[in-house]
Amino acid sequence: MRELIEKINRLKKEKNAVLLVHNYQVEDVQLIADHLGDSLELSKIAANVAGDVIVFAGVKFMAETAKILSPEKTVLLPRLDAGCPMADMITVDELLELKNQYPNAKVVTYVNSSVEIKAESDVCCTSANAVNVVKNLEADEIIFVPDRNLGSYIQSQAPDKKLHLFEGYCYVHNRIKPEEILQTKDLYPDAEVLVHPEARMEVLELADVVLSTSGMLRHASQSPKKQFIVGTEQGLLERMKRENPGKEFLPAFRPKICSNMKRTSLRDVYEALANDQYRIEVPEAIAAKALNALNQMLTYA
Ligand code: 13P
Ligand code: SF4
Repeated sequence: MRELIEKINRLKKEKNAVLLVHNYQVEDVQLIADHLGDSLELSKIAANVAGDVIVFAGVKFMAETAKILSPEKTVLLPRLDAGCPMADMITVDELLELKNQYPNAKVVTYVNSSVEIKAESDVCCTSANAVNVVKNLEADEIIFVPDRNLGSYIQSQAPDKKLHLFEGYCYVHNRIKPEEILQTKDLYPDAEVLVHPEARMEVLELADVVLSTSGMLRHASQSPKKQFIVGTEQGLLERMKRENPGKEFLPAFRPKICSNMKRTSLRDVYEALANDQYRIEVPEAIAAKALNALNQMLTYA
């Protein structure tokens, strides 16, 4: 493994490449990241980072976002089959139909979406800034796509806005059951419950805090509590344990795994750098429209 890491580091230097890694990636890949973070942090870094090549260890929509924000760079996704099923749940026709149905509404699109959907949107958001984006948008009526769970959470936090939701969801977070939180809480009554807003409302109602992946990480490191029940993908728990050795991090009963996020291995990162694969390209006309929505997203904390 050490040899492979050395080869990766050599190639990174040779090609002036930077490795961006999402919090859900396997630990081996997290450990060699130049930047490890949530979707918003990594988008901001992609927009500003120096270098000629970005290798994105995450899923396709993240690499596409990086390419749109940094079009002059080569953006590589080590596994082309690392997609996000939720991003593929809505078609452009379905979004256009919603726009027809609610002509006065603005479109807020979760960054977990295709480039075509982003291009038809007024502004994008991530789980870290979704509530802020909606609260500050100059519109009373908002079409929010594609995640109905995140949409319901935003609606609960921004009751003055009228949100029209689409029926998309994340198969990993949607699987967390309220009983799983309650059973784990029975075993660890002092634990603080942290949940990602892609979980269902019945689960969010049991949470002490609802935050993005890096938001949960920051919260856990600052909290006086010693035990945490974490309702999200297991990769984040690995990072939390590593960075908070005195604290205990428990999944909601069973670990939840995103198979797409887990596809990328160290060898895939090496192959990506060695063979310039797989290059992410976004058609110019679509990229120009999506850039507007993404640039606005970056202005919100
Ligand atoms: P974050 O933006 O919180 O990192 O989440 C991304 C994601 O895909 C959650 O499932
Ligand atoms: Fe998509 Fe869910 Fe996997 Fe995140 S955890 S990449 S939303 S499928």
